Amino acid sequence: MSASTESRDRLRIAIQKSGRLADPARALLGACGLSWRESRDRLFCYGEALPIDLLLVRDDDIPGLIADGVCDLGIVGRNVLAEQDLDRRQNGVAPAFRELVPLGFGGCRLALAVPDDWEWRGAGQLANRRIATSYPALLRNWLAEQGIDADVVTLSGSVEIAPRLGQADLICDLVSSGATLAANQLKPVTTLLDSEAVLAGPVAEFEGERALLAELLLRRLDGALRTRHSRLLMFQAERAAIPRLLPLLPDAESPTVLQVDGADRLALQALCHGRLTWQRLEDLKRAGAQGLMVLPVESMLA
Ligand code: PRP
Ligand code: ZN
Repeated sequence: MSASTESRDRLRIAIQKSGRLADPARALLGACGLSWRESRDRLFCYGEALPIDLLLVRDDDIPGLIADGVCDLGIVGRNVLAEQDLDRRQNGVAPAFRELVPLGFGGCRLALAVPDDWEWRGAGQLANRRIATSYPALLRNWLAEQGIDADVVTLSGSVEIAPRLGQADLICDLVSSGATLAANQLKPVTTLLDSEAVLAGPVAEFEGERALLAELLLRRLDGALRTRHSRLLMFQAERAAIPRLLPLLPDAESPTVLQVDGADRLALQALCHGRLTWQRLEDLKRAGAQGLMVLPVESMLA
């Protein structure tokens, strides 16, 4: 029996074993209340709190594992998902996986980068040039959109040294901090795709027990994502200062106001969804907030 037709009532999520997305992915699933018993080979983690198991794999394998039904869900970069989806389409293979939820970490972009001494005058300059990349499907698609005929040189790694080795004239690769490009005397000139970690799943709907589990996980994920940037802000202020304070809290859900003593001294508490920077706290203080306190939000259920 193939993995896709096997009836399983546990949910299986693939995440990166090591690399940039590995730790944040685990932390996010942990914030959803999942926990696991580590296995000896550390490739499979048996779910304890819920029947949701983890498979630790190479990120490039995740879309295929979902397509084959070996895994139900995966946390992977949009870049990997988009590349493999496009590759399937370009080869006439039906779509098998899709992005379900953007997760807000692992931000990067797929960009064209040229040697520092190039003067960039636009895509027209790329005709007949050799471009090294690990994302041939996305690059070919972009070149076709621009109407440019260029040579795509597919490499599986170390794309950034290709120009120095004479394998290519420029590259198309992921850029996060930009440090890798700078270290190789390259500069980004155009973005093909903005990427971040996403929750990926099959094109087809889940059935039975796994549908219920996936639904539960998506609901908790939604709560965890909203909680991540939320803080509970508490302070006291004179009633007269309130009109000056509220405009500084555009991201707050309707604040709770309590009377402290007399009619003029109030205590406020507000759930803020934006960043409470030092700058903002100082502005609030100047506008009359006293005893400011910022508290993390443990969980939230809409
Ligand atoms: C990417 C990319 C670059 C580097 C860029 O690789 O291939 O090498 O990150 O990051 P920077 O702009 O912060 O220097 P990644 O580490 O994601 O590994 P992978 O693509 O081989 O999976
Ligand atoms: Zn990779």
